[in-house]
Amino acid sequence: MKIDINQIRDFEHSINTLYPERGEVPIQILGYGEISLVFEFVHSSEPIAYKRLPIFDTEEQVTRHIKAYDLYHKILTKNGINVPLEDSCWLKSEDDSIVLYCAQKKIDPQSIGNAIIHHQISQEEIFTLIKVIMRRLSKIWLYNQRSRNIQVGIDGQISNWAVVGYDPANPRISEAIELLYLDTSTPLFRINSIDAMEPVLFLKSAPSFLRWLLEALFLEEVVGRYYDFRLVTIDIIANFYKEQKAELIPQLIKLVNDFFSDEVPELEIVPLSFKEVDAYYNGFLGDRQIWVIFQAARRMDRYLQTRMLGRKYNFYLPGKIKR
Ligand SMILES: Nc1ncnc2c1ncn2[C@@H]1O[C@H](COP(=O)(O)OP(=O)(O)O)[C@@H](O)[C@H]1O
Ligand SMILES: [Mg+2]
Repeated sequence: MKIDINQIRDFEHSINTLYPERGEVPIQILGYGEISLVFEFVHSSEPIAYKRLPIFDTEEQVTRHIKAYDLYHKILTKNGINVPLEDSCWLKSEDDSIVLYCAQKKIDPQSIGNAIIHHQISQEEIFTLIKVIMRRLSKIWLYNQRSRNIQVGIDGQISNWAVVGYDPANPRISEAIELLYLDTSTPLFRINSIDAMEPVLFLKSAPSFLRWLLEALFLEEVVGRYYDFRLVTIDIIANFYKEQKAELIPQLIKLVNDFFSDEVPELEIVPLSFKEVDAYYNGFLGDRQIWVIFQAARRMDRYLQTRMLGRKYNFYLPGKIKR
């Protein structure tokens, strides 16, 4: 995979964070996460998906992050979780802050989990997809159980997985599918209890007026969640509310509970209940409200920065998300 650094430099210097697709260097959006935007260049010799991370103050920070990013790739692959081909590059932006571009071979957006579940596939096939995802994820926690000094975290949401060889014109999901894991730009692992990725970097995309509060109240909990198989699983299932498929949730809970007891009893995971999955998403300051508040605060911050203070706003924000 060959990153075109000149193109990235031109893009960075003419970036339009308010209207991503109206910058001088044309891009096409491939997907939005809650935090970041993934895009490709319209004119490119190779299909590459980029994620722009404008969150670093020093070279030391960015080199540490790249090292972690590369090692995370190795750890995942070693545990049977395949990842698309990756690379990265960084540059200084006009205000001297450092921007990292994480590059990945572009995957057909139609083959990504959150698209697949809305295609013409049966409920059985959706359940099979989740079961295969659970099997991949369990490898991480079996590794954590064996490991002395490394603990690995992962974000299992279906929008982070692609099905290899998936054909949207003839969609089929079986237990034999191969998966690719996409969400690697946030390396989640700890060596001797030290986070590979500096936790405060997670907060860089949050409005400055919220950062201290988020750091004090939520940071440990939010990052810690990805190291707990049970919580990661609750998150995967609760996401079906956001995907407007809440009717599947009771059966999904049964599926993962059976999975825990039949396939990985050694992990001793306490079965999930519907009540807690529901509370996790719909409860007071549950996942839905937290993200709504977070995105609204970011839009407000953008308004303050650009309109009132005449500054540049450095992040792409998602549009309205149906939850
Ligand atoms: N290599 C890729 N090819 C195509 N689309 C991608 C690729 N990587 C990510 N995406 C899209 O962008 C979305 C967000 O990417 P992800 O890495 O999961 O970021 P986040 O950390 O914000 O969740 C994904 O859900 C997917 O739709
Ligand atoms: Mg993601």
